[in-house]
Amino acid sequence: MKIGIETISMYVPGYGLDLRELAKARNVDYAKYHQGIGQEFMSVPSPDEDVITMGANAALQALEGVEREAIQTVIFATESGIDQSKAGAIYIHHLLDLPSNCRTVEMKQACCSSTSALHFALATVALKPEQKVLIVASDEARYGLGTAGEPTQGAGAVAMVISAHPKVMEVDVDVGYFTEDVMDFWRPNYLDEALVDGKYSIKVYLNALEQCWNHYQQATGAIFEDFDHFCYHLPFSRMGLKAHLHLARQEKSSLSARELQQQVEPSLHYNRINGNAYTASLYIGLLSLLDQPQLNLEGARVGFFSYGSGCMGAFFGGTVMAGYREGLNSEARIALLRDRRRLSYEEYEEFYTHALPENGHAYRTRRHRTGAFRLAGVENHQRIYERVPVQMAAHSDASTRAYAAAPA
Ligand code: COA
Repeated sequence: MKIGIETISMYVPGYGLDLRELAKARNVDYAKYHQGIGQEFMSVPSPDEDVITMGANAALQALEGVEREAIQTVIFATESGIDQSKAGAIYIHHLLDLPSNCRTVEMKQACCSSTSALHFALATVALKPEQKVLIVASDEARYGLGTAGEPTQGAGAVAMVISAHPKVMEVDVDVGYFTEDVMDFWRPNYLDEALVDGKYSIKVYLNALEQCWNHYQQATGAIFEDFDHFCYHLPFSRMGLKAHLHLARQEKSSLSARELQQQVEPSLHYNRINGNAYTASLYIGLLSLLDQPQLNLEGARVGFFSYGSGCMGAFFGGTVMAGYREGLNSEARIALLRDRRRLSYEEYEEFYTHALPENGHAYRTRRHRTGAFRLAGVENHQRIYERVPVQMAAHSDASTRAYAAAPA
């Protein structure tokens, strides 16, 4: 039985900041952002967007054409959770009108809980092949104004339906794991921004990659040459290339620098123009690879390295299905990224510093460009979400269409 990704979709906020603007404001050479870390643009959520609205907008597209009764599990993966108790999956389940005979849960382990969600989903479907699992990974990467991490910020969500009818990718069950208690990046409950030891985090990322690969090799006997393409967790796009060259060196690969670059470069494009989206980042990289019009990936073997600070890593593989382009909806994703409105530096700071009141008093957010769902405000310490009327969901044609097709 083949199990894997039946559908996959992505959503990003309708606004972004050109890193040239940030470089000017921070008095930094733009080449440091553009060449040094490989970033050009970052998505910035408006005050009426959060991980729930981004996740629901992504999931709406992933569910197009999928029979909803088969979805009996929704897993929400995030490190920007909105509640310490209630799972974000429940809000998304409600916004999408999913059947009530459903299990809903939220998972956390920095940027890699989406990958654990994927492997839990594979196990669920292996036990009950008639069931499908909806995974929603959604995050807002916040490092603090003026910090070294600021130019790597971004936001976005990926939704995937995992089933025994994978149309996009069959995912292998073998995984190489590594866990070590380190403090490279964390966010105490009382902070809105992550604390990070950036240079140390790169070191432990690369060590986790080595350890995961070694574990994966022991389990499978696989070699580096078994894979045609690689997708890495991308805190910034240059990290993918750094990681790939590191692994290639360790494995004494005979491929040229150009060939190695071609194995990873297609997965970096969306990160470069969107920034980090924590749990969604690896899978935005996968979409970046799948959307490349010049590549025919049917049958291609893809190696994945998922990394979550703190830290845990996982290496695994997948095979792209024949006919994978059907239903990928690449044009909508390209339009979504292209049509983001450019913020001025001042507008970015205004969005960044906007905070919901913490006193529980009624508060309404101003309407911005969003997809089919938006955060309308807060009342009695509860976030209020609303569906956006079709004609007003300006940001995403795809989600507008999908909303129009969704049950009222
Ligand atoms: N032109 C071209 N490249 C330049 C440059 C310039 N003017 N100035 C610096 N660079 C290069 C540096 O040589 C370096 O490249 P290298 O890593 O290949 O040596 C790169 O740009 C970054 O410069 P650095 O001085 O190391 O940046 P920084 O101290 O501002 O921090 C991070 C970079 C990634 C550590 C920081 O963005 C961060 O903390 N990010 C968040 C955490 C993170 O992403 N962790 C990764 C693992 S999860």
